[in-house]
Amino acid sequence: SNAEVISASSATPLPHHGLAHKHILSVDMFTKDQLNDIFNLAQTFRVYVTKERPLDHILRGKVMASIFYEVSTRTSCSFSAAMQRLGGRVIYMDETSSSVKKGETLEDSVGVMAGYSDVVVLRHPSPGSVLKASHHCRKPLINAGDGVGEHPSQALLDIFTIREEIGTVNGLTITLVGDLKNGRTVHSLARLLTLYNVQLRYVSPPSLKMPSYVTDFIRSKGVSQEEYTSLEEVLPDTDVLYMTRIQKERFENEEEYQKACGHFVVTPKLMTRAKRKMVVLHPLPRVFEISPEFDTDPRAAYFRQAECGMYVRMALLAMVLGKC
Ligand code: CP
Repeated sequence: SNAEVISASSATPLPHHGLAHKHILSVDMFTKDQLNDIFNLAQTFRVYVTKERPLDHILRGKVMASIFYEVSTRTSCSFSAAMQRLGGRVIYMDETSSSVKKGETLEDSVGVMAGYSDVVVLRHPSPGSVLKASHHCRKPLINAGDGVGEHPSQALLDIFTIREEIGTVNGLTITLVGDLKNGRTVHSLARLLTLYNVQLRYVSPPSLKMPSYVTDFIRSKGVSQEEYTSLEEVLPDTDVLYMTRIQKERFENEEEYQKACGHFVVTPKLMTRAKRKMVVLHPLPRVFEISPEFDTDPRAAYFRQAECGMYVRMALLAMVLGKC
């Protein structure tokens, strides 16, 4: 059991899940068995944390390097909290207060930080940059978001949250809403959901549709997907409504951004059209796309989702460091 794994973690040989000492760059690397291993361990960690049972022997003596070239609240802080709850320590680097200002390359910075740590967590605005940096990183490197590319640990926590909230992922209709062009979380989530029996629905402004390289991938896996322009139309059949922010920082000018805003907003009135047993998720931060008046609705699961991120990242760190 996971409880036995936790109590015996310092004595166990290399685990069988195959994630020990691996880079986590894209959701495409995961098998269904690995997802089940991550989620079962995350669930065990959730119980331990809730009951205030000790976990700080698991990564005692280990150091995580947290490197963020783009702002973050949840990913940065939940990875740090995850490491610290398991007894590890964290060192930090960002692009504004480091020798990046003197012209040091990403590859050099990551290579140096890998020498100080046992696992590296990296966010960068350029798609593909984390993969490139991984060639210079002799410790496991976790992609914490590479521009409009991928955000694999977010997709893991999204699916973990669905499992925790609804009890299963199979058989669900999952509707992704908002900036599907620039939102890396929906790119990773849609791809990872192809490991399940789900129906995908996309709702976005016409200029912000899901990119064809994602829809082609989903099609190649035989998963049902349909595009809509109206949230009202798709809402009655939806089991998971996944809202996203219009990614202002990816727009060339304010005018184009404003044109894309305000099309789809979750309000208590709108949600009278939805099932009583369904959930609303959002990777956060939200700007206007979910009205705060909806926060007290039991279907509003986005703050529980943010907390789930810590349990999933605890599991990921423990597994990548070969301790669970
Ligand atoms: N969901 C997410 O990636 O949030 P942050 O940008 O705050 O890390």
